[in-house]
Amino acid sequence: MAGKNEVNKERRIFYRNFLCYSPFPIPTFRFYCSMMDTDSPVIKFNNVSKFYLTGGTRVTALANVNMQLHAGDFVTIMGPSGGGKTTLLNCIGGLDAPDEGDIFLNSRLISKMNDRELTELRRKEIGFVFQFFNLMPTLTLWENVELPLLLSHSSKTDDKRIHTLLDYVGLTDRARSFPAELSGGEMQRVAIARALVHQPALILADEPTGNLDSENGTKILELMKKVSTEFQTTLVVVTHNPQIAGYGNVHFEIRDGKLTRKG
Ligand SMILES: Nc1ncnc2c1ncn2[C@@H]1O[C@H](COP(=O)(O)OP(=O)(O)O)[C@@H](O)[C@H]1O
Ligand SMILES: [Mg+2]
Repeated sequence: MAGKNEVNKERRIFYRNFLCYSPFPIPTFRFYCSMMDTDSPVIKFNNVSKFYLTGGTRVTALANVNMQLHAGDFVTIMGPSGGGKTTLLNCIGGLDAPDEGDIFLNSRLISKMNDRELTELRRKEIGFVFQFFNLMPTLTLWENVELPLLLSHSSKTDDKRIHTLLDYVGLTDRARSFPAELSGGEMQRVAIARALVHQPALILADEPTGNLDSENGTKILELMKKVSTEFQTTLVVVTHNPQIAGYGNVHFEIRDGKLTRKG
């Protein structure tokens, strides 16, 4: 039986040939090629560096970082405080731009996109999970999960999807509650449902268990693991908590802005 790489190579050759003789526009086929080419990384960093100037001194937050993350990877990035974890995550998510190097999301160069393009990308293709949950206090759980759909240009809500996601995180019966009525673990489950609502290629989580006790932290990690396998979403979790490393299948460490693969 042909291996996965061989099958993908055959598919690529087929689509390349198809492209040459096809009457359809090239972007349409680029789209289909990217769908079929499961080997191409979701995220690619090429020699990425980021510097900050503080009080006249230059701090290297990212030092010549190279990495590739694939669909369905559950990636952990560990490292001491000040090591560059948040800067790395912000660059992956288009919240921050590198000073040197290139960042690609699904083969598109995002490090040179303008603010409008980045906002659009973040709204539609990336889910964010934060240490302090960042839920809207005046909206119910249902409305918090619905919000990214309303903010995107489609302005179309999708009741079935919201219901399915609240069910997925075990909070259907709390749909009409407000965030203040929930525990920290429950709030983070809502944040995960909200991050999933656009069916993003990528979910980025900055210290997602940093504000939870260890029992609730474990539950959140289990849920994230389930998400990465069942949705084929690439999950990137940064933390200084070593407990988390047991959950990922790709591990990195970042220290003084230098990224090292650990497994
Ligand atoms: N906005 C900023 N201005 C100046 N220095 C910054 C800024 N953000 C981060 N840094 C510096 O960059 C380095 C990496 O920070 P950060 O990515 O927040 O690390 P971590 O998330 O691992 O704690 C640190 O030395 C930090 O002080
Ligand atoms: Mg940080």
